[in-house]
Amino acid sequence: MNNISISDRFKGNVPQLDMPPRILLGPGPANVDPRILAAMSVPPVGHLDPTFLKVMDEIQDLLRYTWQTENEMTIAVAGTGTAAMEATIANSVEPGDKVLIGVKGYFGNRLVDMAGRYGAEVSTITKTWGEAFTLEEIKTAIETHQPKILALVHAETSTGVRQPLEGVAELCQQHGCLLLVDTVTSMGGVPLHIDAWGIDLAYSCSQKGLGSPPGASPFTMSPRAVDKLKNRPKSVPNWYLDMALLAKYWGSERVYHHTAPINMNYALREALRLVAEEGLQERWQRHQQNAELFWDGLAELNLECHVAKEIRLPTLTTVKIPEGVDGKAISTKLLNEYNIEIAGGLGELGGKVWRVGLMGYNSRPENVILLLSAFKKVLGK
Ligand SMILES: Cc1ncc(COP(=O)(O)O)c(C=O)c1O
Repeated sequence: MNNISISDRFKGNVPQLDMPPRILLGPGPANVDPRILAAMSVPPVGHLDPTFLKVMDEIQDLLRYTWQTENEMTIAVAGTGTAAMEATIANSVEPGDKVLIGVKGYFGNRLVDMAGRYGAEVSTITKTWGEAFTLEEIKTAIETHQPKILALVHAETSTGVRQPLEGVAELCQQHGCLLLVDTVTSMGGVPLHIDAWGIDLAYSCSQKGLGSPPGASPFTMSPRAVDKLKNRPKSVPNWYLDMALLAKYWGSERVYHHTAPINMNYALREALRLVAEEGLQERWQRHQQNAELFWDGLAELNLECHVAKEIRLPTLTTVKIPEGVDGKAISTKLLNEYNIEIAGGLGELGGKVWRVGLMGYNSRPENVILLLSAFKKVLGK
């Protein structure tokens, strides 16, 4: 033992954290309201402390409000949006279930990968990246595939497309199928009505429309989805995300499941409090107005949006990179010279578009004006 040497290379030699003051206008995370940062620095209490249990109840209520749902099983999953995404799949898909997935961007493909790993018999309908499915296309696909679950991405962050959802649930219910929806880039920024639209399972994240840091992710399931979970012959194959277990922590039993990330929940509570303070309609309107200001400014710079206006997301705009322009060089310049983060295209749209997010705290006119003038400079217009 005595001759084991200890590496001392870090002793007294780790610099203090020093991060630049970025303006985060990419696909997320967005900048965080100072009130949320202040809430995060409140000293943690225990994860079963009565005062924290009250915070959990408040988060559930505020999530129900923000999502416009009465679903009892509405919680914040400890993890990023992908954890909440996996929770919807893990708790609804049984091996051999037919799952139909609408793929019109990167995150549809992630759902395909996940559902397959949980033993689903996956079929897909696909659409060019930048377009949305029509109700007729969804109807035909449901009739052809007769799925137990239909999964759609409401707000495709890779393309900037808003998938209209009105009428989809009626089709699902006629065919005894559950409707699972990704609301990661819509919650808190785009009109979304979980109950009125008949959505059975939904997930989101904290770092986009809600404007909190990443790490506590909204999840909800309808009574129909809960019934499927209760009737499955075997338990959910993912222990950490099993809602039958999590319901005992978030519900009245208060049984220990995991040590909740206390301060992430403080942050989420404050973010949701800000949503309630502003009002949902007003918040959706703010996102739309600032996005339109941005789109008008782009047109003045002769820059084109990739997505038709009727299905364009206010939270995430894909801007076509003009012929002969090096998209990566421009976004690097914006970062290095103006501290502004935007992103390039993902997957099929790599090298073809920039992705600009105006979400939560960041959806404000001064950010739009700043980005447009920075664009003007770096593009030499
Ligand atoms: C539509 C969509 N789904 C899922 C995710 C995954 O969320 P996260 O990166 O928080 O794990 C993202 C992330 O950007 C997303 O945009």
